[in-house]
Amino acid sequence: MLIRQKKKSDVASYEITPQKLYLDRRRFMGGIGLAAGSVALGVMPRTSAHGAVLPPGAGEIPGIVNGYSKLGEKDELTHLNAVTTYNNFYEFGTGKEDPGVNSGDFKPRPWQIKVDGLCAKPGTLDLDDFVKPHTIEERIYRMRCVEAWSMVIPWAGIPLGDIVKRFEPLGSAKYVSFETIVRPEEMPGQRRSHILPWPYVEGLRLDEAANPLAILAVGLYGAVLPNQNGAPVRLVVPWKYGFKGVKSIVRMSFTEEEPKNTWQVMNPPEYGFYANVNPTVDHPRWSQATERRIGEFFRRETLMFNGYQEEVGQLYAGMDLAKNY
Ligand code: MTE
Repeated sequence: MLIRQKKKSDVASYEITPQKLYLDRRRFMGGIGLAAGSVALGVMPRTSAHGAVLPPGAGEIPGIVNGYSKLGEKDELTHLNAVTTYNNFYEFGTGKEDPGVNSGDFKPRPWQIKVDGLCAKPGTLDLDDFVKPHTIEERIYRMRCVEAWSMVIPWAGIPLGDIVKRFEPLGSAKYVSFETIVRPEEMPGQRRSHILPWPYVEGLRLDEAANPLAILAVGLYGAVLPNQNGAPVRLVVPWKYGFKGVKSIVRMSFTEEEPKNTWQVMNPPEYGFYANVNPTVDHPRWSQATERRIGEFFRRETLMFNGYQEEVGQLYAGMDLAKNY
């Protein structure tokens, strides 16, 4: 990171610790029981305060409530500008800046999600109908990529467990899988079939999906998801490596068999199904003992289950964690 020292007089008030302002705003709203929405977003113009990445006034999500968020003392929100310009979304290219640069023509609306497989209530739903029965919660989570970098992101999302319940999985269903949209005309990476086999797919065990930490995110920093972050809806499972967070989801299927995920198919010795963050099990190319928090200079120690052991450790009782990379 290049840090330019500014004179105090250079610094506009909106540039001072925007992450802290964002959190204070959320705490204030939580404290007086207000739902997030136009009032709050009027208090702080998010475009200038967070780096002017999103179109002014666009995409604010009304009615977000504060959800479960557990941050360590040393965790600060990653700047919106980094969250939206340093991405992995190979459908738009393999460089970190490619998704931000190449996703402008992607149309996340209208959007439908197909739910099928072993469930009593399969169907194809418009995104609004998919989301409407649920309350959108803000969840501030650490995100840890297998490439050994990390961020802290304020997501807006719906508990995945509630969604799963709605479609009534059958007793035989043990897993849920997800698929990203295939739209090569809008996703330049998909026009190059050698990058990855499309669609990008991912999956979870049903009890993992039901864990209260797992969400389907429809926004970040109080506004709709930017295209490069997986608009209009993506998976967030904060105790697993970031590649489990499949973006731009169009299909959710209940299965009896463990579903394959894209990286496992691409490179089985390097990637598995579970992908739980584990500092003691190195990836062949990246030590997982430490990580680089985007925006920071010194590396920090990686936490078991990315710091969520208390919440998810019981899911893996009796399993050999060293083998579940
Ligand atoms: N989903 C799709 N469809 N395609 C991708 O290339 N990359 C994954 C995951 N979801 C990816 C994806 C990886 S490797 C990571 S680390 C996260 O998205 C990155 O999410 P972010 O760009 O919002 O930080």
